[in-house]
Amino acid sequence: MTASRTLLYCRAGFERECAQEITAAAQAAGVEGFVKARPASGFALFEPHDADASARFASSIALRELVFARQLVRASPMVPLAADDRVAPIVAAARALGPASFRALWLEMPDTNEGKALAALTRTLAPHLERGLRAAGITFDEAAAKERLHVFFVGSVACHVGMSRARDGSPWPMGIPRLRMPSSAPSRSTLKLAEALLVFVGEDALAGVLAPGMTAVDLGASPGGWTWQLARRGLMVTAVDNGAIDAALLETGQVRHRREDGLHFQPAEPVDWMVCDMVESPSRIARLAAQWIARGWCRRSIFNLKLPMKKRWEELERCRALIAEELSGRGYALRMKQLYHDREEVTAYLAARAKEPLHWKRPRRTS
Ligand SMILES: C[S@@+](CC[C@H](N)C(=O)[O-])C[C@H]1O[C@@H](n2cnc3c(N)ncnc32)[C@H](O)[C@@H]1O
Repeated sequence: MTASRTLLYCRAGFERECAQEITAAAQAAGVEGFVKARPASGFALFEPHDADASARFASSIALRELVFARQLVRASPMVPLAADDRVAPIVAAARALGPASFRALWLEMPDTNEGKALAALTRTLAPHLERGLRAAGITFDEAAAKERLHVFFVGSVACHVGMSRARDGSPWPMGIPRLRMPSSAPSRSTLKLAEALLVFVGEDALAGVLAPGMTAVDLGASPGGWTWQLARRGLMVTAVDNGAIDAALLETGQVRHRREDGLHFQPAEPVDWMVCDMVESPSRIARLAAQWIARGWCRRSIFNLKLPMKKRWEELERCRALIAEELSGRGYALRMKQLYHDREEVTAYLAARAKEPLHWKRPRRTS
């Protein structure tokens, strides 16, 4: 089995966190091994002691369960390349993976300055490599094949060759969604919520859970990038912040501005969504979101957790525990992800289980 490694792409500077969570997942699966995660490299590589157990582990672990990984690839050991023939060793490594047909061929590199310097090389190499793969009997079937083929360059003469499952791997090369900045959105932060909705809800399901006529509260809304995402989908939004909200947004008639403390704000009626981008301690925000769900103040929430410089992984574990405590005995779904548009932060999605009735506790005062 050549795809014995688990290769994780991440934001440069978060290799340690990526390593911590893959180590925890391996331990939970009873797989022993070690992680190579050079600081600022933009990736981590889990290497098993026992290749068979590792292959089982790599097949069982899902990208959606990982916070810091942008993509998860079952990969070969490093493939050395000759500067005058990169195609032959890559083709040999691709054939050794097993499948004869792939959904796509992605030539990738770490999301770092060093990685970006490899872009020209991969652009030139791509057509030659594709021809070489086809000549070796590998076909590409966008509709039927289950795996994507990844060639991840860690330098100009070294790469890993691997595959990711089309059904649960990231659908974007390098795990990066290239979202266009909407010209009328009041802040770049709007892209964070746009990406969160794609990652946590998905394009196909969005219309069902974010529909015109629904309601939302945006805590820490100024200047209004997140509110803009909700309003443009037809929601009525209460934007809570002492700071100003974009005038054009207010003119839509869909947005009400409340100059209040988001930590103590209580909605007059239950809302479909509570989103929160307040700069506050992660545990405070995690508890707040869980309380909104527990009290039936909202059905779903997306919130951003600003991470401290140290012990970020531990901080997230603490947030998970706080949410579990607040929602003990209730059904809920929780996912966390460091999105491409997140910096020293991660974004979380918390939802009451669909069958769970909303137990609306009337707030002490109305808004
Ligand atoms: C990162 S900005 C939000 C950007 C916004 N999501 C956007 O897309 O334009 C954080 C905001 O949280 C607000 N904030 C921080 N603490 C708050 C609190 N306790 N109550 C209300 N707003 C708060 C700040 O005033 C600031 O405008």
